[in-house]
Amino acid sequence: MIDNQIIEEIKSRNDIVDVISSYVGLKRAGSNMQGLCPFHSEKTPSFTVFTATQGYYCFGCGAGGDVINFVRQIENLEYIPALEFLAKRAGITLPDNMRKTEGGFDRNRFLNMNRDAARFFRECLFDENIGREAMAYLRRRELSVATIKRFGIGYSPDGFSALTKHMTNLGYTEEELIAGFLCGRSRKTGTLFDYFRNRVMFPIIDVSGNVIAFGGRVMDDSQPKYLNSSDTPVFKKSRNLFALNFARTSCADELLLCEGYMDVIALHAAGFSNSVATLGTAITPEQARIMSRYTKKVLISYDSDAAGQKAANRAIGILGEVGLDVRVLKIKDAKDPDEFIKKFGAEKFSELLSGSQGKFKYNMDSVLARHDISVPDEKIKACAELTAMIADIYSSAEREVYIGAVSSKLDIPKESIRSDIDRILKKKKREFKKQESQKIVRQSAGFGDRVNPDYAKNVAAAKAEESVLGMLVLYPEHRKAVADGKVNLSESDFFTEFGRRVFKVVFEIERSGAYDSGLLGEYFNPEEQGRIMRMQLARSQLSDNGSDVFAESVLSLKRETSAAVADASVDNILDIINDKRKNT
Ligand code: GTP
Ligand code: MN
Repeated sequence: MIDNQIIEEIKSRNDIVDVISSYVGLKRAGSNMQGLCPFHSEKTPSFTVFTATQGYYCFGCGAGGDVINFVRQIENLEYIPALEFLAKRAGITLPDNMRKTEGGFDRNRFLNMNRDAARFFRECLFDENIGREAMAYLRRRELSVATIKRFGIGYSPDGFSALTKHMTNLGYTEEELIAGFLCGRSRKTGTLFDYFRNRVMFPIIDVSGNVIAFGGRVMDDSQPKYLNSSDTPVFKKSRNLFALNFARTSCADELLLCEGYMDVIALHAAGFSNSVATLGTAITPEQARIMSRYTKKVLISYDSDAAGQKAANRAIGILGEVGLDVRVLKIKDAKDPDEFIKKFGAEKFSELLSGSQGKFKYNMDSVLARHDISVPDEKIKACAELTAMIADIYSSAEREVYIGAVSSKLDIPKESIRSDIDRILKKKKREFKKQESQKIVRQSAGFGDRVNPDYAKNVAAAKAEESVLGMLVLYPEHRKAVADGKVNLSESDFFTEFGRRVFKVVFEIERSGAYDSGLLGEYFNPEEQGRIMRMQLARSQLSDNGSDVFAESVLSLKRETSAAVADASVDNILDIINDKRKNT
């Protein structure tokens, strides 16, 4: 649990108006400030910064919270990295206790250890005597000194204990060095040895700029080609991406996903700074989720060999699952993006990007691979799958292209494929219309709420709940009344799951010190914090929030909740609304 004193210090030394002004043009509006919301597109300002309470809220899209949440949203950072970001901005060092890792290591020390190791590797690379061969290797691969420096590339010397000695002298313990995957312990002699030897070293850097791991490549054909850090107390392979620290600010439109470190480095050097790579493993759902926070579209540019294409096929599924638009780049006449750029140049790569092979061609190939189209039954099945896929495509021009492709592959006339597709489209249209009208009804009744999906199940209960929570968050005396049992209120009195969670967290924080919005980040994502901000604002606009009003609100919440629980399920409500529509 994070200490609220440090949160207070971070907040008091990062005035919200100062911080937000560097991203958003703000104008004074009464006692507050207003500007165009950076989180959704708008023409008239509905984004408000409350100077007195040091909060923000957008009345258009519902984004809101304190300065910490703002940094999380605008910089795409997790909670702790956002704290780090603001601490750095104000010249504060985060205390050690905030940085205990799994296994009880000190996160700060651990990260410093990695940084010191990276520095050591770099010095070795630039040392004429030690790093000559490694430097020659990198230059042979056409990396400029600027690129080498930008990526912090280094060299781990041959021998057994150059790094071990250096790091021990700096005061790092054996346990730290082993847990950090920098050293191993010899089974025979029990002494420490360097884990990476005679390798070119690529530091893995997280989005806050911390060195969290290393990849090391041999300079000849020996095996294994790469040695990568295993998971350590500060590093999870499955949750990080190589070069995301650079790519995160230039990938809003599109992210290039590669297989190798060298591909990414070559791409960045050629100006494609929106590229990243996984860390020597197949892509994970966590990595997909991380990407989806930074971009809408991922272009997979894996190796052109069979293994690369197979991996690409798997990646399509994982990336598609988190709602990303996915395309696969077909690299011709080169084994990977690195080689392609060396052979044909950045401009040609750019052309490749604009004409990248779509999802469809890819999916078509996999459908064809699953069916033996020389067998009539199988051919019909393949055709049905493909027409369904084409019907999913929005652009009619694009559909025509694919109808042509399927027609020639399956040797079926275009007209008959087209009429199949038309039939599917008509059916879809009918369904779509039905769904749309249901959506409108739902929205007007508060349905389709992502943060609090239970809200619409019983709006009266949900509103009563927000009223109580708003007061709890705003006023310490109400929290005290509940904590002391003067006002009888518990989790089960809340109607929505989200409401119960907010209640629980507020009191968890309260018990450990005092409630502060700055501590919500450990429990809630930025969107959820916007909702909490809304509850708070709704109450603070009312003149009376005294204890009588609070007690009354609690009673009314209990009443509404028990009535709602006894009431119908969403489906019933939906049916009722739909029936009403039909009858009017
Ligand atoms: P170059 O061959 O130098 O161009 O390297 P590359 O970065 O293009 O790597 P490659 O496409 O061969 O492999 C993709 C990624 O898989 C690498 O960046 C590594 O992270 C990982 N990898 C490759 N070979 C090995 C290996 O032998 N062991 C491990 N653990 N990982 C490897
Ligand atoms: Mn390569």
